[in-house]
Amino acid sequence: MMLYNFDEIVPRRGTSCVKHDMLNEVFGTDDVLPMWVADMDFKTPDFIVEAVRKRCDHEVFGYTFAPETYKMAVLNWMREHYHIETRWKNIHFIPGIVQGIAFVLQAFTNPGDKVLITTPVYPPFINVPHRSGRVFVSSPLKTVNGRFALDYNDLEEKAKGCKVMILANPHNPGGTVWTKDELQKIAEICYRQNVLVIADEIHADLTLPGFTHTSFTTVSEEALHNSITFIAPSKTFNMAGLASSVCYVPDADIKKQFFGFLDANELSLGTLFAYVAAEAAFAHGDPWRLQLLDYLVGNIDFTEQYLQQNMPEIKMMRPEASFLLWLDFRAWNIPHKELVDKLIHEAKVGLNSGLDYGPDGDGFMRMNIGTPRANVQEALERIRNLKGEC
Ligand SMILES: Cc1ncc(COP(=O)(O)O)c(C=O)c1O
Repeated sequence: MMLYNFDEIVPRRGTSCVKHDMLNEVFGTDDVLPMWVADMDFKTPDFIVEAVRKRCDHEVFGYTFAPETYKMAVLNWMREHYHIETRWKNIHFIPGIVQGIAFVLQAFTNPGDKVLITTPVYPPFINVPHRSGRVFVSSPLKTVNGRFALDYNDLEEKAKGCKVMILANPHNPGGTVWTKDELQKIAEICYRQNVLVIADEIHADLTLPGFTHTSFTTVSEEALHNSITFIAPSKTFNMAGLASSVCYVPDADIKKQFFGFLDANELSLGTLFAYVAAEAAFAHGDPWRLQLLDYLVGNIDFTEQYLQQNMPEIKMMRPEASFLLWLDFRAWNIPHKELVDKLIHEAKVGLNSGLDYGPDGDGFMRMNIGTPRANVQEALERIRNLKGEC
């Protein structure tokens, strides 16, 4: 079996990549080590690059459609990884998941309608409803035994009058892998309150060893008949720039409404390379994915130990999935804005500000460790040096 080298540093500047080439826009300086937006600094795996290259060699990029081999690769992956046995008629291509969320809001809600989220959460769950004139309602997450937990009473209260809930399964930030029991309770509440659930499962394939991802529709009839699930190879296989995702809608009525909306708005077709790359990822991806997960666990362990030894007051929520660490800096006891400024301008590390994830993110930062360990170490050393000055 091929062994992949995740320690390799791949220069990314000058490739129009958001993470390295938009630092000025985001941080006001390009002199920071980018540990923010959620893609990885590893090479997209060779079998995906090869598939794209092979198609390039044909040198004609005319109109295209989703080939059967692509559809089979998606369906097989869903069966093997999520225990979902379905047919293509329940699946629809979408370019990206944030776009998919926006499409659901357009298709099922009107301006002024309420959208339920649990904070802290991935910022577009807040921004997409807000920008389209919907009103987001948050049920704050609690931290119990080092992971996020839901307050079901609060969730039920907040769900009243909402049209849609946007659920990250697993969660971002914090990487909480929701259990079957937790998902069943969410499904029950949303069904009772007539709230359609968007299950965003983009991080599912990054569930770390020792944890088990449960796909939302598999937990109950209430979940199956009241949800739209989003699935993508983009996060796992580092191919977000190729814009290739799918949604899965098993309920006939919801499907009719949603797929009808997508088709009416000519949102049905993917690009040529979106199909080619996703097929390669789903058909050949597991050996690479498993090696990636081991490397990510190594980065998480490294960070945890480094913090314990050098900055024990910074608390890390140990993720159960993915490569996004939720760090609690509140013990530094400085206002959030000052914390952000110091990290950018003194430590020169580009992290995500916790306040972008909702008001509960005050005093927190999100750090992306989907990068060679040398970068993780460098970022932590820079933060430690800053601490010396505080
Ligand atoms: C929970 C979640 N959903 C969606 C996305 C982005 O999806 P896309 O690039 O397909 O819009 C991210 C990226 O970080 C994410 O964390």
